[in-house]
Amino acid sequence: MRIVSGIQPTGNLHLGNYLGAIRNWVAMQDEWTAKGGECFYFLADLHAISMPHDPKALGENTREMTAALVACGVDPDRSTLFNQTQVPAHAELQWLLNGTARVGWLNRMTQWKDKAGKNRDGQSVALFTYPVLQAADVLIYQATHVPVGEDQKQHLELARDIAQKFNNDFCAEDAPLFVLPEPIIPPAAARIMSLRDGSAKMSKSDPSDMSRINLTDDADAIMSKIKKAKSDADALPSEAEGLEGRPEARNLVGIYSAMSGQSVAQILGDFGGKGFGAFKPALGELLVEKLSPINERFNTLRQDREALNAILRKGAEKARAASAPTLAATYDALGLVR
Ligand code: TYM
Repeated sequence: MRIVSGIQPTGNLHLGNYLGAIRNWVAMQDEWTAKGGECFYFLADLHAISMPHDPKALGENTREMTAALVACGVDPDRSTLFNQTQVPAHAELQWLLNGTARVGWLNRMTQWKDKAGKNRDGQSVALFTYPVLQAADVLIYQATHVPVGEDQKQHLELARDIAQKFNNDFCAEDAPLFVLPEPIIPPAAARIMSLRDGSAKMSKSDPSDMSRINLTDDADAIMSKIKKAKSDADALPSEAEGLEGRPEARNLVGIYSAMSGQSVAQILGDFGGKGFGAFKPALGELLVEKLSPINERFNTLRQDREALNAILRKGAEKARAASAPTLAATYDALGLVR
């Protein structure tokens, strides 16, 4: 069992990242490393250069995101926590897989279509080939499971297609090189929406900081963001069906459910018939209670730059060793002379 996942070190870790992915990273680490499984978690800094970025900020963001992940419970002694750039096999394998990935497959990626909009010609080549690097990220470790939010499902399907085509084209039938990875998507909280617009996902790249709860927000910021979150004038329904057509209400109740572990039915049992004036303060307090220990740990960890560099160095060393056999086998399968 090999678990692999990544996050871009752009901006802050937010509630969508946490509930959609990072909480599962920690749960899988806790469950599987005790049984001999291995977890590889990384900062996808090579992915971050596919969009305009500030080179002066990227290094600091990479360390800050490392601190945030450790604060959430990723344990660098049990998981291999590292930065993509420090493991060159990711970029090398991407090039090798570029020979297998098809332009038509990449053209169908919804993230590419959303981010490029009407101006495809003006985008970086990196934004277009981004999913091939993502495939390399997981295939290089022979990942069996990849914990991600719903928005990454299509990229994981592409990784499986690339692996399958490579195995078919270059390997004997009884000796496939690549394992086909399985996405692990949480049943609730797979897609946390913006606090300003229930039809857009909560995202690091939304220009409005009011659209997301950052795991680095203090209690005052959390309470005020929840208070100002878009909602509607109606009372909460007493049954889940009543949330249909009310995306903002559905999102806020979904966040409450994911944070508290209570089902939507239970929550509506308590709050059905009550307005957002009653529900929002309860949600804000729940978030403050659950996030403040993470926030405190983060504020301590972020100050020790050297300790964060050391975590990444040690993780990269382990990841380089783990990536070497698959990279060598891929060069060999393609007939490249090393
Ligand atoms: P990124 O950095 O956008 O997000 C990191 C993780 O958080 C999840 N996520 C969400 N889940 C629920 N609701 C949301 N609003 C929300 N926003 C983000 C994402 O699904 C993701 O799991 N391309 C990836 C990084 C990556 C990667 C990989 C992931 C690079 N290589 C290999 C897995 C395996 C990305 O940009 O995630």
